[in-house]
Amino acid sequence: MKHYRIAAIPADGIGPEVIAAGLQALEALEKRDGGFSLDVTHFDWGSERYKRTGALMPEDGPQQLKEFDAIFFGAVGAPDVPDHVTLWGLRLPICQGLDQYANVRPTRILPGIASPLAGVGPGDLDWVIVRENSEGEYSGHGGRAHKGFPEEIGTETAIFTRAGVTRIMRFAFGLALSRPRKMLTVVTKSNAQRHGMVMWDEIAAEVAREFPDVTWDKMLVDAMTVRMVKDPRSLDTIVATNLHADILSDLAGALAGSLGVAPTANIDPERRFPSMFEPIHGSAFDIAGKGIANPVATFWTASRMLDHLGETKAAERLMIAVEKVCEAGIMTPDIGGNATTQEVTDAVCDAIRGANF
Ligand code: IPM
Ligand code: MG
Repeated sequence: MKHYRIAAIPADGIGPEVIAAGLQALEALEKRDGGFSLDVTHFDWGSERYKRTGALMPEDGPQQLKEFDAIFFGAVGAPDVPDHVTLWGLRLPICQGLDQYANVRPTRILPGIASPLAGVGPGDLDWVIVRENSEGEYSGHGGRAHKGFPEEIGTETAIFTRAGVTRIMRFAFGLALSRPRKMLTVVTKSNAQRHGMVMWDEIAAEVAREFPDVTWDKMLVDAMTVRMVKDPRSLDTIVATNLHADILSDLAGALAGSLGVAPTANIDPERRFPSMFEPIHGSAFDIAGKGIANPVATFWTASRMLDHLGETKAAERLMIAVEKVCEAGIMTPDIGGNATTQEVTDAVCDAIRGANF
């Protein structure tokens, strides 16, 4: 019997609702499988804690997380706390403190969910976006001077290092190699940004030589948005900078039918530290507390977490259960259904319990 220690950080808005749903599914999988157990520790970190104590998490937060095997994260962000405070107070210090430099965002169209693209259904859009997660435009470098005066300046410096770009390229090429089509598209903006982005292109070409079995091409980020819409079948694995991939992954989520189903994994590929798994959708305060948050993104997230832990059978079983439930039309209002979070969760747990898969 394998034991895994999981740190659950539900945090803000619908975070607690979807994490509760995810934990129910994980428990059902644990019972069905019999080969592993999860020991879950809850952390009350988030915006409420910030309002009470002035900090979203304790100063040694990332340090406290190091003893866990994985982190199961809900969402951070509150209407009455500035977004840059919540982001830089919780999620980024964890990602950067645990050097989770690869952010992995799979997108595909689940059965029963309609893409806004005409004639595009399950199988036509099956992508994984790899987002550089430790530097680039999210390095936090820059500053303000002459505040409030007409000559005020603000700078926001993107930082690209050879080490940082090389490691994310190796990760992306490796991931592309593990997928059936073995295709990678490297996204930059190296026509307008002629320093760091040109270095990305050069390093991509260097790393490509280590992966002769991967077919790869390059796209400028603006043209990439057009290709994603017009020719989704031509894409498979995609690698881009922190900000470019942030934007492209929202587009990808929308094209797959809903951001409400999209998962993300913040990975330390070297496994020195725990990786962190979260739904992409965010805290969605407009529907918090109503019991209608879509738990599918969190189920998919939980599946990625199990896969990372090595529980591939349970990870697969969870996705099959989710697909069956979506196909049966048991879904929340954001994707056209009328089920509650709990009804979808119960259906998924029932499918897991009765599974012959
Ligand atoms: C995401 C989100 C975050 C990001 C926000 C909430 C700061 O959009 O995970 O894609 O930009 O990284
Ligand atoms: Mg985003």
